[in-house]
Amino acid sequence: MKKILIISDMHSGITRESKTRPGYTRQPSSQALKTLEAYRDKWHTDSFEHLIELGDMTKPIPESHDNVQLYRDAVNTIKSLGLPTTFVFGNHDIEYLSKAEIKEITDQSSFNSVTQIGGFQIVTFEHSQLDKDTAQILRETMDWFEENVKKDIQTILFSHYSLKPVKMDGSFGFEGKDSTVQIQNSEEFVNFLGKFDIRASINGHLHWAGYSKMRMFPCVTVLPFTDNILSSCDIAINPGIYHVLELDGNELRLKSYSGDFCFLNIEI
Ligand SMILES: [Fe+2]
Repeated sequence: MKKILIISDMHSGITRESKTRPGYTRQPSSQALKTLEAYRDKWHTDSFEHLIELGDMTKPIPESHDNVQLYRDAVNTIKSLGLPTTFVFGNHDIEYLSKAEIKEITDQSSFNSVTQIGGFQIVTFEHSQLDKDTAQILRETMDWFEENVKKDIQTILFSHYSLKPVKMDGSFGFEGKDSTVQIQNSEEFVNFLGKFDIRASINGHLHWAGYSKMRMFPCVTVLPFTDNILSSCDIAINPGIYHVLELDGNELRLKSYSGDFCFLNIEI
């Protein structure tokens, strides 16, 4: 069995106080990197083949902060884990960094990647921001698929945004903003993907967990590392959420953990 470690929406930045409950934390982002480092030894012994970082590693600090350095520190912390890593950028990362800067800092020549693990193709792909909050897939990305992704191998897609349109009713951050969580031209893109053997699509960004099918394949949304259902800055209470994708023959299993507590274990 092969295992892939997935982290999404780390939101390293500053801890924000609740506006409605002064004195209480709303977004415990200052300690995101320290929280991540606390997993170092555990993840080292868990023998992962690969780490996929699903974007929004940072949340920009508006008060004349060096947000490029904020991103650089997050990348260096992830790299220091010593795992082969693919970085996907999120809407917050691209708020203050150019794609060229992200490539330079992550040491990735492209946002499109295909990696063979356990008989599957692991694919990340570039999107284009239509504006600060919305994304689409460009023709160039589809051309890259044609040239680089094999059609006869089961493929797992990883992206920051959801491939599938999602109703965000009840979401604290996205209610009434459905267009900001999904790829705008998902219909066109999924039609294009019909010629490939897509086994699953996994995304972050929504700050909730989700599983639903689009055409024949499941679209899974994983919870964020920080800024999730817990707002405590105490690592013992809020150890950060991560995910493990197990690839075993033809089977895929996704597990989600908060510290040692495995709270999700599904076949996908
Ligand atoms: Fe995001």
